[in-house]
Amino acid sequence: MSTSLFSPQSIPRLEIPTDALLVEGGAPISGTVRISGAKNAVLPMMAAAILAPGVSSIHNVPALRDVSTMALVLQALGIPSDRHDEILTIDTGNCRSLRAPYELVKTMRASIYVLGPLLALHGRAEVSLPGGCAWGPRPVDIHLKGMEALGARVELDGGYIVAEATRLRGAEIELPFPSVVAAGNHLMAAVLAEGTTALVNAAREPEIGALAEFLIAMGARISGAGSSRIEIEGVTSLAPTEFEVIPDRIEAGTYLIAGAMAGGAVRVVDCRPDHLEALLACLRAMEVPCGIGEDWIEVEGGERPAPLAVKTAPFPGLATDLQAQLMALAVRARGTSSLRETVYPDRFKHVSELVRLGARIQVENGTALIEGVEELSGAPVMASDLRASAALVLAGLVARGTTRVGRVYHIDRGYSGIEQKLAGLGARIRRVRE
Ligand code: EPZ
Repeated sequence: MSTSLFSPQSIPRLEIPTDALLVEGGAPISGTVRISGAKNAVLPMMAAAILAPGVSSIHNVPALRDVSTMALVLQALGIPSDRHDEILTIDTGNCRSLRAPYELVKTMRASIYVLGPLLALHGRAEVSLPGGCAWGPRPVDIHLKGMEALGARVELDGGYIVAEATRLRGAEIELPFPSVVAAGNHLMAAVLAEGTTALVNAAREPEIGALAEFLIAMGARISGAGSSRIEIEGVTSLAPTEFEVIPDRIEAGTYLIAGAMAGGAVRVVDCRPDHLEALLACLRAMEVPCGIGEDWIEVEGGERPAPLAVKTAPFPGLATDLQAQLMALAVRARGTSSLRETVYPDRFKHVSELVRLGARIQVENGTALIEGVEELSGAPVMASDLRASAALVLAGLVARGTTRVGRVYHIDRGYSGIEQKLAGLGARIRRVRE
């Protein structure tokens, strides 16, 4: 008989002070859930405020760790911000540093959004190179080549991007890939450049359209945002403004999928159905009844869905940020589904955790084949990124017994009050502190 080297009480434990979410499966959910402001829209807007010295106000700001992290990045630049309820005021009148430190940038890749604005207004930026993430390398070459195309000198020094320019000059720039954050950096650098800039193959995500509208409200001259060609006519200065953040389409999609899995009827309100067309097409293909209004979408869940074959793609394709959540729905489909990940071919860290709950999934060459099963059973699982965490919570809603999702700090980066919102729909979910 094998004996363990450790007695149970002596198994070494990593002292990471983390919360976990405990989900009791089987409770049907129903009702209405309000969608918060979009994480991936508010982050570039906070950086864009740098371009207009003075006090700007951003409304409908979600309570997220990433928003707090971006506020710390601004604070490191000498830019205070203050949040009351969902209104964030940022005072960029006294930017005292041009250096975004490694300690902060390594925790959130979107910190690189300060590169374009600092370079455009102050002529210099020192931004730590962001690390990779759970699903692989996240290069920034498109950002750097774009700044050089606008006339900046860009060097790497001690793990930092050091960019300098007396005044940026407009140019025609083709992005090799429609990276969202890269498009945002190009946009924010070009608005104060001399002359006209054209961005070709720009990201079409709604968050870029929202950033453009924010910049236009400051006095920028931009046309074509939301399409793959954006034109910017440089101006000499911008003025602070007030603006409202668009609803978070990924949060909305996550709760729609929760309803498709564990509903009853679930209605998400304060959302933009026009930002969710690709997901709605997937839900229809899976025979999930959907109702659509001007600022709401309702799904009727509970039945095992039909299988799905789909690939992720830049907007208007299916968002890679909904891939894990859609996989959680496909796990109990009446047949075999295929989910091909074309943006991040390795973004499948959630697969092994779903398998622990009883899913049958094989991944090869960037495609997950999911053989639908009748039932999942609860187990302790661990997430590696914010969308994978959300997918595991959704699976817990329908797994028999208890599912414990660890490392919930991932979820807190991109979902405000996920346990309150799900409990409000009748889910049996609570946060525990280890
Ligand atoms: C944005 O990241 C989102 N983040 C991500 O959401 C989202 O997953 C991603 O777009 C794709 O839709 C924010 O908006 C803050 P990328 P972004 O990795 O623009 C290649 C979430 O869940 N690329 O830059 O930073 C890259 O390899 C997060 O909220 C280059 O090659 O995405 C990848 O294949 C996770 N060189 C693709 O582009 C570069 O310089 C995606 O771009 C930049 C990107």
